[in-house]
Amino acid sequence: MWRFVQISDPHLASKRNGVWNNRFLCSMMPGVMECLRSDLARLNPDFILVTGDIVSHRTRKSVFDARDMLDSLGIPYYPMGGNHDFYDMASRAWFLEAYESHLPTPNTVYTFVHKKMRFCVLDPWWVWNDGALMPFPDPDAAKRQETDLRDTRWALPPEQFVWLESVLDAFPKFPTCLAFHYPALPVPGRLRRPDYNDAGTLENGELLVGVLSKYPHVKAIFSGHVHTNAINRRNGVVQIATSALPEYPVEYREIRVYSDRMEVRTHGLSDPSFAEKSLIPGKDYTVGEQQDREATIPLK
Ligand SMILES: [Fe+2]
Ligand SMILES: [Fe+2]
Repeated sequence: MWRFVQISDPHLASKRNGVWNNRFLCSMMPGVMECLRSDLARLNPDFILVTGDIVSHRTRKSVFDARDMLDSLGIPYYPMGGNHDFYDMASRAWFLEAYESHLPTPNTVYTFVHKKMRFCVLDPWWVWNDGALMPFPDPDAAKRQETDLRDTRWALPPEQFVWLESVLDAFPKFPTCLAFHYPALPVPGRLRRPDYNDAGTLENGELLVGVLSKYPHVKAIFSGHVHTNAINRRNGVVQIATSALPEYPVEYREIRVYSDRMEVRTHGLSDPSFAEKSLIPGKDYTVGEQQDREATIPLK
């Protein structure tokens, strides 16, 4: 057995505090990362998948400060961008520069193999009001994105479907996981309440999941963005959306990989005070139900 970890939406290098579903407390992230470092040292995963929204402040320095905070965990990691990382072409260049030594190839779309498991990381783009698909948001969405994601849309570019299928066709032997920031499938109805703040779903996520039904060696999709723990199953693929570190429940995923299965487990930090500070009474449902917190995924 070996293990890897998924963390999501750390929104590092920012002092911004606010409310999403629970209190969203970027200012507590230095303490969260310090606690996570000692918790992960005990768990000793092979690597971490960081599923986007790594940084939360729009400067080059913040990107590098965030990178240094991830480096301080002392564990190899694979970064990917979210709407807070990729908001213009300069921010994309900073990402590539900061994570040069962590990316298997100097690109935001990449693949790697670890102990006979393949990973494919994708980079969804922004859908503009006129339907154009671009690597940065239209000016209206850019203005609103700190506070209001309604009507903001993202989709996987056709070129990435072509790339993904070429990789999946060429390497059918190893079980394969995909990872990208926006969930392909919406947060399930069981987790929605009238006051639930939905950050949105990949616009062509259903299309992607349909394509994946041709590739039974694709087992799981790891995503973030919704700041909620949710696990959906569709066509033999399990989508694991993981909550955000600056917001209740302040948790991460552990994935144990055996020869015949993956087991997904969800863990809070050893110091529960971060989650307690963030929780708004009545909003604890973002922790997910049991089926959103644990999964066994057959690999054979
Ligand atoms: Fe986020
Ligand atoms: Fe996001």
